[in-house]
Amino acid sequence: MGIVRRTYKQSSKLTEGDVNLSPRRNAWIKKNIDKSTAQMLTEDERYFLHQSLSTPCLNAISESKGIYLRDMQGRQIMDFHGNSAHQVGYGNARVIEMIKKQLDEIPFCPRRYTNQMAIDLARRLAELAPGNLNKLLFAPSGTSAIGMALKLARYATNRHKTISMWGSFHGASLDAISISGDSMFRKDVGPLLPGTEHIPPPTRGKCHFNCVDEEHTGCINYLDYILEKEGDVAAIIAEPMRWTTAELPPRNYWRRVREICDHRGVLLIFDEIPSAMGRTGKMFVCEHFDVVPDMLVIGKGLGGGVFPMAALIAREELDIVGDLALGHYTHEKSSVGCAAALATINCLYEDGLIENAITLGKHAMQRLMKMQSRLPLIHKVRGLGLYLGIELLKDGKPANDEADTVLYHSLSRGLSYKVGGGCVLTLCPPITITPEELNKALDIIEEGITSVS
Ligand SMILES: Cc1ncc(COP(=O)(O)O)c(C=O)c1O
Repeated sequence: MGIVRRTYKQSSKLTEGDVNLSPRRNAWIKKNIDKSTAQMLTEDERYFLHQSLSTPCLNAISESKGIYLRDMQGRQIMDFHGNSAHQVGYGNARVIEMIKKQLDEIPFCPRRYTNQMAIDLARRLAELAPGNLNKLLFAPSGTSAIGMALKLARYATNRHKTISMWGSFHGASLDAISISGDSMFRKDVGPLLPGTEHIPPPTRGKCHFNCVDEEHTGCINYLDYILEKEGDVAAIIAEPMRWTTAELPPRNYWRRVREICDHRGVLLIFDEIPSAMGRTGKMFVCEHFDVVPDMLVIGKGLGGGVFPMAALIAREELDIVGDLALGHYTHEKSSVGCAAALATINCLYEDGLIENAITLGKHAMQRLMKMQSRLPLIHKVRGLGLYLGIELLKDGKPANDEADTVLYHSLSRGLSYKVGGGCVLTLCPPITITPEELNKALDIIEEGITSVS
């Protein structure tokens, strides 16, 4: 069989947030990684398929605890990345205790049976979710839960078309990359799902339609125009807050989209996989906008930073597919995963973590605004609760090179985070973090940005 060999080269344009071939990354490895870790990385490369954003890895860890990782050379790293799955910190005592109990009692729940943990979690989420979002299905990944939402939208409307946003990410499977709008996941992969139309995102200040009004009238009119012209769209699917670059649309945007969906008979699906579960100062992001979607998809932090857990939460009237399969995943009603999720929710409410996200989020934003007034490289600071973005621009252009340098400066001082969109430093700490730890991380970032300014 002929294998097509791809050629890709190292480029200074590539950053940690894009792919793992940046020359600065290689230089960092050379300087910071000792022989024994290098051997581990080589072995990792030997057995894992190479892919962007994962193998080859940058470093290897021996421990994850609280807000910290520890690498093989004993260095402590504050983790402000965590794949957005570590709201309650690593190894959270309550989460681990509930998981251990389930491991002893019901380590696995096969199909045909239910278990109390699964029922308790479904009830808890149904009670917490806004409006009449009260029917659930669990899945082992956010991507699978997105797939279930897409199928349910088709069954419910007898239509297959969707509208989603350019630049978005909804998961790595073929159905999810069809609705996603990020070329790294779509390029060269061949035919995608039909009927997946895309619109530009309504980002503040620089949207495709140059909307200058708070309502984003240009964006809204375009959306309504497509829905009218197509006439047979099943659903609009979007992140209420764009996670990769920490961008929120104006306050009224989702309310207007909701009205249009109601008017045109189109379902609204919110992807809150990285953003739900308390981090933004509310359990669900849609609560910030007073908008209830028809389906809400959550994941990541739901599993307490331990277990792969995601959920589709749909409104009651959408419970219509009793004779067909929406998910049917092997770990559908995992007693262990549901225990992890229940413990996570208990922590959020009983340990005051949502309040902590609000209080520390405000504090961090004030510090970032002060930094911005001192450092012209910082174009914008933005965020919601304890999820923050620092956008770096130089001469009006994305400062990708500087962002990359600041990242490796931070990594050398024990702080890890993602760079989104090439030039946005995104800060996603566990919401168990203390003010002292947060200040230390912000000091490192300030020092890094100062050094390239
Ligand atoms: C917005 C969004 N949707 C979906 C996903 C996919 O979730 P998972 O990796 O659990 O499949 C992600 C993961 O990063 C995400 O950020």
